[in-house]
Amino acid sequence: MKARIPTPDATAALLRRTISSAPRLAIQLGTGFGGVAEAVEIRQQWSYRELPGFPVGSVPGHEGRLLMGALAGTPVWVLCGRAHFYEGFSMAEVTFAVRTLAAAGASTVLLTNAAGGIRKALRPGSFMVLSDHINGLGENPLRGPVPLGCPRFLDASAIYDPLLRRILRRAGRDAGVRCQEGVYLAVPGPSFETPAEIRAFRRFGADAVGMSTVPEALAARQRGLRVAALSAITNAAAGLGPPGAVLTHEEVLVQAAARGDAATRLVSGFARRLGVTD
Ligand code: HPA
Repeated sequence: MKARIPTPDATAALLRRTISSAPRLAIQLGTGFGGVAEAVEIRQQWSYRELPGFPVGSVPGHEGRLLMGALAGTPVWVLCGRAHFYEGFSMAEVTFAVRTLAAAGASTVLLTNAAGGIRKALRPGSFMVLSDHINGLGENPLRGPVPLGCPRFLDASAIYDPLLRRILRRAGRDAGVRCQEGVYLAVPGPSFETPAEIRAFRRFGADAVGMSTVPEALAARQRGLRVAALSAITNAAAGLGPPGAVLTHEEVLVQAAARGDAATRLVSGFARRLGVTD
């Protein structure tokens, strides 16, 4: 017998059988945001291994759990851990979890990540609310079959919702955390960039660089979700740090951990404000 290939709609149907209603807000926790999970009042949780089609990543800090519960009083679904393109996953796999939550009824998603700062003011320890992105991945997740009722040619002129961007900036003010807006450029990784690439990206209009988020943002918009995204700036991008600086994933993790509390306050504040606004 031919094995059935999991689809986001089928996995969403499985989730819907166990819940009475879907929360408005789904959150994907990237590097630097893992601590948010500890602030969630968990009602139910799944390991990604239990959810057909959810790819199980190999990067430390991306453990693979879906939490259902409340954050700062707002009902949420939280994806702890993501699959990255650089791990060798296909775009379909990278976007599977977000597409599933969309199909299960989430209507807003907050995507989070760690990124290198290109704009001078985006120093390590600061946060950036994405105003737009540049897809430098060399692949588009919307290539291929179109999900039922979704556009073939997505308008990408306003991927990041202006109201959600405002709420994030306000949440930053509440939390005493500076959030600047900027353009995120996604690279495939896993090598960090060369200084020449960073100089070129700056000319392209990029303010920060990272290895994720853009596929999920496009897939979520195609499914009609309102999208917001937030970067924890963990390092100066290649060539912009102190002379002789070497970029390592460990450094990214250390800096991300140092700002973990700020990240949690910010995301919790966003959830609380969204709960009141919606
Ligand atoms: N480049 C790409 N991805 C990253 C970086 C970076 O400098 N920092 C954190 N993620």
